[in-house]
Amino acid sequence: MLVAEEAETIAELADVASPPAHIAIIMDGNGRWAKKRLLPRVAGHRKGAEVVRKCVRECSRIGVKYLTLYAFSSENWKRPEEEVKDLMGLLKHYLNNEIDQLHEQNVRLRFMGGRERLSPSINELITSAEQKTLNNNGLQLVLALNYGSQAEIVMAARELAREVAEGRLSPDEIDEKTFAEHLYLPDIPDPDVIIRTSGEQRLSNFLLWQAAYSEFIFVETLWPDFDENSLSQAICEYHKRERRYGARP
Ligand code: FPP
Repeated sequence: MLVAEEAETIAELADVASPPAHIAIIMDGNGRWAKKRLLPRVAGHRKGAEVVRKCVRECSRIGVKYLTLYAFSSENWKRPEEEVKDLMGLLKHYLNNEIDQLHEQNVRLRFMGGRERLSPSINELITSAEQKTLNNNGLQLVLALNYGSQAEIVMAARELAREVAEGRLSPDEIDEKTFAEHLYLPDIPDPDVIIRTSGEQRLSNFLLWQAAYSEFIFVETLWPDFDENSLSQAICEYHKRERRYGARP
């Protein structure tokens, strides 16, 4: 087995270091990738979906436990109808065509975000993917769909208020732990690292609560150009950071 001193390439180094348990990615830059090639935006999203496939396989291979991907934000509905249709079509295609392979790879598929605005056919695919892969104990792949972090926090606050109003909870019992238990996937630990591609440096309403102690890695690479090597580089960068959680070294 390779040890760190013998690792020569970035990929080898990322392989020998223990991977972050939870990687979250803001996949940005599909449109610019397509524009640079004088292609329609959908071509960038299509290539982006291929990169999702590769990243999932690589995260599985190196032993990442959770991979959360920002696939469609609650703000993305503001895009032209045609593009929303293309993105939903790609998601459907992914869920229809990848589910058997994901299942074979022992991947458990999970989702976060409001389901009410998604079409009945996407909701069916989500439910069936969740059920089919429920007992898989490999990588947990979380797709954030129609997801917005502020709405998630409001949802948790509203539910807590309801419990208080109904006398099931006292206001003094509300702390960080109870609050987090009312978010979408409370059993999943917070992301160790959040990667955003394409040079933009903001969270865009992604995992605001969960990012409290995450490391942020912003890379210039556009999402369709992101590959296994980019992932290894991001993991190496993550390992260079010293995480102190507010304590002194
Ligand atoms: C941001 O690029 C990307 C999105 C809004 C959608 C991400 C979707 C995919 C990668 C494909 C489908 C996903 C799955 C899980 C199969 P942008 O369009 O905002 O790029 P730009 O900033 O360059 O315009």
